Amino acid sequence: MSGPRRVLALLDGTLADPDAPLVRAGDLGLMRGDGVFETVLVEHAVAHELDSHLERLARSAGLLGLPEPGAAAWRRCVAAAVAGWGSTAELSLTLVCSRGMAADGSAGTCFAFGLPMSPRRVRLRETGVSALALDRGVPLDVVDRAPWLLLGAKTLSYAVNMAAVRYAEEHGADDAIFTAPGGTVLEGPTSSLVVASGGTLRTTPAALGVLPGTTQRALFEEAEAGGWRVAEEPMSLDDLRAADGVFLTSAGHKVTRVHTLDGRPLPDSSALAARLLGLLERRYRKRATQSRNAVIT
Ligand SMILES: Cc1ncc(COP(=O)(O)O)c(C=O)c1O
Repeated sequence: MSGPRRVLALLDGTLADPDAPLVRAGDLGLMRGDGVFETVLVEHAVAHELDSHLERLARSAGLLGLPEPGAAAWRRCVAAAVAGWGSTAELSLTLVCSRGMAADGSAGTCFAFGLPMSPRRVRLRETGVSALALDRGVPLDVVDRAPWLLLGAKTLSYAVNMAAVRYAEEHGADDAIFTAPGGTVLEGPTSSLVVASGGTLRTTPAALGVLPGTTQRALFEEAEAGGWRVAEEPMSLDDLRAADGVFLTSAGHKVTRVHTLDGRPLPDSSALAARLLGLLERRYRKRATQSRNAVIT
């Protein structure tokens, strides 16, 4: 089959044909979005922040009461996918674990499927994005009051997140930033929000029902070591407009600056974006060197 190269790995550490059928029609992941996933950046043959991703996958699965295979099986699966990819180019590797055909007592359907990083995502990292603030419609106190809404879990039910990105695009923007009723800013549909002002990096507290970002966490570790102050604090749209820089972070976004919010330009943060991206990429290069050395020794 033509088109971009893909890679499919199973939990037993074997590769499978990415074009062959794998999921049965009754799979509850497919039927109801009942399952969890993670998207991991593979670059220079290293699956970056894998510990954080596996921790978050286990946490999401716990919130859904979903049995999941555990870190050892995922590591085997990811290693197979990275070896099967066999390139230093960026791979977007999605680990999926659905509830499977639960009614027949069988285990969930779990696999890792990788695609080359989307050229659009890479381009937007360079140009920055315009973003629309979109009301998620969910009050801040709902997180504890309604745990069944699974806020902060990375579930397969991402139709709402994808609809928000499409809505933003249909209205002339590249991406979206969710807000809560009352105006507190939350996160992007597929990214964390990071705001820089006067030597401090801030992100939305996970307690407000956002997904704790693995990239944001890695960036904050590097930034703190480099002299930045870091904080988790609720922020408003006015805070974003007054900041030195507003960024979206994820395994795919890396550090992508927001240059325009709701049609109004923000202060130029390209130099700041380059500095923050530099911190993250230096960490990734270091990890790649360590992993090469570990193979050699
Ligand atoms: C809703 C949401 N928030 C934040 C993130 C950022 O997470 P990470 O940095 O682990 O990619 C994502 C990633 O897809 C996401 O979907």
